[in-house]
Amino acid sequence: MEYISSLTLSHFRSHKVSKLSLDGRPVVVFGNNGTGKTNILEAVSLFSPGRGIRRASAKDVTRNPEAIGWKIEGKVTNSISENEIVITSENGEARRLLLDGKKASIMKLGQILRIVWLVPSMDRLWTEGSSGRRQFLDRLTLSYFPKHAEVSLLYEKAMKERNRLLKEKIYNDQWYNALEIEMAKSAVSIQKSRMQAIQYLTEAQNQLTGNFPKAELLLIDPEQNIITDEDEAVRALKCSRQNDMIIGRTSVGPHKSDLQAIYLNKSMPAKDSSTGEQKALLISIILSNAKSLAKISNVSPIVLLDEVSAHLDNERRAALYDEICQLGVQAWMTGTELELFSELKDKAQFIEVTAADGISTLSVSS
Ligand SMILES: Nc1ncnc2c1ncn2[C@@H]1O[C@H](COP(=O)(O)OP(=O)(O)OP(=O)(O)O)[C@@H](O)[C@H]1O
Ligand SMILES: [Mg+2]
Repeated sequence: MEYISSLTLSHFRSHKVSKLSLDGRPVVVFGNNGTGKTNILEAVSLFSPGRGIRRASAKDVTRNPEAIGWKIEGKVTNSISENEIVITSENGEARRLLLDGKKASIMKLGQILRIVWLVPSMDRLWTEGSSGRRQFLDRLTLSYFPKHAEVSLLYEKAMKERNRLLKEKIYNDQWYNALEIEMAKSAVSIQKSRMQAIQYLTEAQNQLTGNFPKAELLLIDPEQNIITDEDEAVRALKCSRQNDMIIGRTSVGPHKSDLQAIYLNKSMPAKDSSTGEQKALLISIILSNAKSLAKISNVSPIVLLDEVSAHLDNERRAALYDEICQLGVQAWMTGTELELFSELKDKAQFIEVTAADGISTLSVSS
């Protein structure tokens, strides 16, 4: 199994210098409100491509008032190797990666670690706009297909360029053709990977042992069927050019897709399910993800569960811990009360976070 065996945060949000040594067991981070628990999970989430659990910029996370930049150092261990990750940002500049002492693209992180998460803002995932669900699906997809991040970036880049032409009302067929071919190629790869990810998740849901609800997951498109053919994708873009010129942006493609979930037991759309049911569905999806990853690609993801335990009844909480221990993944869980994790006993590592004068301090309790 892959896990983070050491972590050091320097000048990262409320952490001036915080160090942790970890042994692969689930990690419980507990402490009062505002002490810096979520900040730790956020730092871990930056060990994957993208902007992490808060979608914050490099500038946002630099410790104030110094605002001198920040550094996160970690070791990722599995049974055969160890990787050293150092992520830095100076003066609010975009983060940089040193992988085993060498400069590398942030995208490379997707090949070292798979990180998935559930955070409180996702409580409204099924009821709010589609962008959150797309991000969620793409993170899951990325965990199976590390290249998904790069392909998505290629797509975004080409689309940005196309949108610029559209906005500036530039009529240049050749230019559009070239961009649209590139977009179509990425678009098809994105959609195929997403659909395959949904397939993996669906299969794994049926193998969960605890009493977690199952969801029927569907990739949907507001305008048309999901396009998985390159020529068709090129045609769709070409057809929409005129209309896109009027609105000044690209109206078709994977950036418009949505993830739909049905709470299977009740045949009820997730968006109409209760708060607890929606949370349970998300947990079920995350656990399925971990389960299928272990099976398919032989890697274990890092699972970040911010404030999840507090929302579960005793039975569900015990089932969650059982599943995590069985899966053998490094799950990072936060909560204000230590009692929420009492079922885990010595199966987890416990870290208490306190804060004074806006600076977080960690202490490992055995
Ligand atoms: N850039 C920053 N520099 C310094 N402190 C920051 C920065 N960004 C956030 N903070 C502080 O970090 C503190 C802890 O935040 P965090 O969200 O980790 O708390 P938490 O322990 O998860 O609390 P809760 O239990 O309420 O979720 C907050 O008090 C916030 O003011
Ligand atoms: Mg928090």
